[in-house]
Amino acid sequence: MPMTARPAVHVTESETAAQRACEQRIARMPDRPKTYHVVTYGCQMNAHDSEKLAGMLEAMGLTAAPVRDEADFVIFNTCCVRDNAERRALGNVTWLKEVRRTRPEMMIAVCGCMIQEPGMAERILKQYPFVDLAFGTSNLHRFPELMEKVLVTGGRVVAVEEEDMIAEHVPVRRLRQDAAYLTIMYGCDNFCSYCIVPYVRGRERSRRMADILREAEELRDGGVKEIMLLGQNVNSYRGEGGEDFPALLRAVDALGVERIRFMTSHPKDLSDGLIAAMAECGHVLPQFHLPVQAGNDEILRRMNRHYDRAGYLDRVRRLRAAVPGIGLTTDIIVGFPGETEEQFLDTLSLVDEVGYDSAFTFIYSPRTGTAAAKMPGQVPEDVATDRIQRLIALQEKRQREMTARFVGQTERVLVESLSRRSDRAVSGKGEHGISISFPGDSADIGRIIPVRVTGQKNNTLTAERTEA
Ligand code: 5AD
Ligand code: SF4
Repeated sequence: MPMTARPAVHVTESETAAQRACEQRIARMPDRPKTYHVVTYGCQMNAHDSEKLAGMLEAMGLTAAPVRDEADFVIFNTCCVRDNAERRALGNVTWLKEVRRTRPEMMIAVCGCMIQEPGMAERILKQYPFVDLAFGTSNLHRFPELMEKVLVTGGRVVAVEEEDMIAEHVPVRRLRQDAAYLTIMYGCDNFCSYCIVPYVRGRERSRRMADILREAEELRDGGVKEIMLLGQNVNSYRGEGGEDFPALLRAVDALGVERIRFMTSHPKDLSDGLIAAMAECGHVLPQFHLPVQAGNDEILRRMNRHYDRAGYLDRVRRLRAAVPGIGLTTDIIVGFPGETEEQFLDTLSLVDEVGYDSAFTFIYSPRTGTAAAKMPGQVPEDVATDRIQRLIALQEKRQREMTARFVGQTERVLVESLSRRSDRAVSGKGEHGISISFPGDSADIGRIIPVRVTGQKNNTLTAERTEA
């Protein structure tokens, strides 16, 4: 028997219709803002939320302004996962205050994870009197209604709710035509001790499988070549009929979307079923993001990660056995409270042992309200900085050694952009998730091009085009 799914809370159809009607009314207002600019901080989830904000703004009749100083409406979609993300967002809001002095009609909104932090909305209102609208992630689908309120009353509006809802049929204005984000679940119930996400993104809730497949079909029919399935912990996906993530992955694979990726997988529930689905699904790319966070058992225990070093290494072995050559990436935190030099050395030795193709490395940042923020032994900044530098140096060395396996091999690259270093070269990601650059021009953007990897440069691979 499949596990019984928790009842997901979907926004009602009439509520959705009311929001779409708001958009129409705003579109007809003569004095509404005409152009918008969305500033995004943080992860893919936030980037996708910004695509929804842009979709709703366009349904209200606004058009995108490439430069934010020139926009009539500027919205900051904030992140609070680490202190520096939060400081950057607030710093930019303050800077806009100056811009608004010369353009008093400019509207400013702040939304996203930071607004969900306790007391933050009030603080924003008090400290930033030029902000017209503040709302949290749980209110995203009500953005048209909130916007209308500001426009009609001319007053300031704040909305932060505790409700964890799922909203379907929100308009989306996608940044890329060739690759798309597709959210499969929202929220997180893991409560890793350092992490604020469960507090600001709410409880885990999964979209209905039928809604996900409908969206994937629309994307496929619209010419999208690559879909990234998104969730804070995709392995916790549970459809209304009890379907798990491997079942969902197989169903999306059967639709014939050219390339499928997903993010993020928690190692504690990386199942054999998922490993088998990875190996058997022809469209699921041979790459895996498996955040380890630390290589020491005691630190992992205090991080509340529910796996140990040996268990993690075993999962890596099983993944590599099932999908030979798989691209493997991770997230690592240094300077977790109480982390000793010996414990940090365990992280270094794990990085050495695994051999990641790429890693995101972070200095631990205390987040108010999380369990780790109250733990003794906060690591001094200079010690943490020294550790991250040693970690990065080792990872760069291992990365060069690991990615050498692609030299001489063929990869199919989905071209993302012109190369940063030359306008006669393009770059994108191969099947294994590694950045590759090769000769080309803007006509290649959005196409999948077969190349032969010829060498390594900095953190990317270089290649030449092959006849396909
Ligand atoms: N400090 C530092 N890094 C953090 N992350 C999450 N919370 C924190 C924090 N408080 C990192 C984790 C996670 C990634 C998205 O951000 O490594 O996997
Ligand atoms: Fe944060 Fe852990 Fe949830 Fe990831 S799994 S979002 S690190 S609490």
